[in-house]
Amino acid sequence: MPTLNGGYYHDVSAVLITTPMQQTQHFLVKMRGMTPATPHRRIVLGITGGIAAYKAAELARLLIKQGVEVQVAMTDAATHFITPATLQALTGQPVLLDQWQDDKGMSHIHSSRIADAIVIAPATADFIAKLAHGLADDLLSTLCLARDCPLLVAPAMNKQMWSNAATQRNVRQLAADGVTLLGPVSGVQACGEEGMGRMLEAEALAQDILTALSVASSDELAGMRLLITAGPTYEAIDAVRGITNRSSGKMGYAVAQAALEMGAQVTLVSGPVSLTPPAGARVVDVTSAAEMFAAVQQAVPSSDMFIGVAAVADYRVAQPSEQKIKKSDTSLNLQLVPTPDILGWVASQPKAPFCVGFAAESEKLREHATAKRKKKNIPLLAANLAQDAIGADDNELVLFDDAGEHVLPRTDKSTLARALLRHAAMLYKKGNQT
Ligand SMILES: Cc1cc2nc3c(=O)[nH]c(=O)nc-3n(C[C@H](O)[C@H](O)[C@H](O)COP(=O)(O)O)c2cc1C
Repeated sequence: MPTLNGGYYHDVSAVLITTPMQQTQHFLVKMRGMTPATPHRRIVLGITGGIAAYKAAELARLLIKQGVEVQVAMTDAATHFITPATLQALTGQPVLLDQWQDDKGMSHIHSSRIADAIVIAPATADFIAKLAHGLADDLLSTLCLARDCPLLVAPAMNKQMWSNAATQRNVRQLAADGVTLLGPVSGVQACGEEGMGRMLEAEALAQDILTALSVASSDELAGMRLLITAGPTYEAIDAVRGITNRSSGKMGYAVAQAALEMGAQVTLVSGPVSLTPPAGARVVDVTSAAEMFAAVQQAVPSSDMFIGVAAVADYRVAQPSEQKIKKSDTSLNLQLVPTPDILGWVASQPKAPFCVGFAAESEKLREHATAKRKKKNIPLLAANLAQDAIGADDNELVLFDDAGEHVLPRTDKSTLARALLRHAAMLYKKGNQT
């Protein structure tokens, strides 16, 4: 008879149900017709009083779909935005609300003891302040203080509240205390303004939480150390102007996220982008091609695979002006000199990691990609049409390797990233066997 195997459910209909936790999961499986193929994980989802509280319902649903057991705890303010009944119906568990009306007794300690993580989504400015100061004047803040598991916090607030010096100070304190911050991002806010403070969408949050819980979708890259570059570079002309390109960093960040989900350790060297880095990645922020090169040089010796997704400038200004260049009636000549060839350098190292290059072409994709792979002497190159790829959420890739070309049809960048990594992992393993 199939049974629980190392915490993984295989044949749900025949699983032996022994513990209350397994019973709950079995209930969810029966009720929602799900067949989780992930290790059993349990989180406390803390909801605080912000407009984004409605997104917590979708987040709970997505996590449950992935086999995560979700125990919701809400602040009093949160109940003004979404009803506990909704969360109770979605999770199949009574919602924790009041430390003084506690049927189970000592919920403030017990619930955090059996959780693999506490996730606060949305996290108000007020709640972040409480966390930063170790306050415990309601059930959720007491749960956080009494925890012995990771705490993940997804801030959500108006841009002025976010940029307020007090909030920024509190956020820095949380980071220093080892709390993982998920977002926020910039965008249109409930108040109609636009700016930083919007909570990540439920799907992105679910991904980050699953990654943090090590609920990897596969272990194809388990134990591997990946070095990934992403985004554009910026080459200064003077104090305020520079040469850059329209790369958004979305593809590189999707590759980093997928690599983490596949069990890899990830170092992400990122040019200037406005994206939230995937939770769990070691991120090195850089600006220019020279800085990116230096960061890569440092990380290469401890990397098994290098994936150069960044759109690195080919040229930089020979002598950038320290001051802003004044406008005049005469023409201005800038001397441009080549930037370092990062991929070429990595591939030419005596103990080079397995190298994957990216080529963004505006025409003659096959011709240029094949030539680039040959010139750089790399085993795998992913090519895309720049005009289709830059800034977009979906893309089409053509992979070039010794066996020929492999088309990854148009789809979202996360799906493409997983397919690319599967292909790279397959070639890497094949290479190591020969
Ligand atoms: C309509 C409305 C919307 C609010 N939205 C937010 C928000 O998005 N983010 C935030 O930090 N506070 C927001 N607040 C303020 C919080 O609800 C308030 O600070 C509350 O005390 C937070 O309590 P809690 O942190 O215990 O949940 C909002 C208040 C109101 C009345």
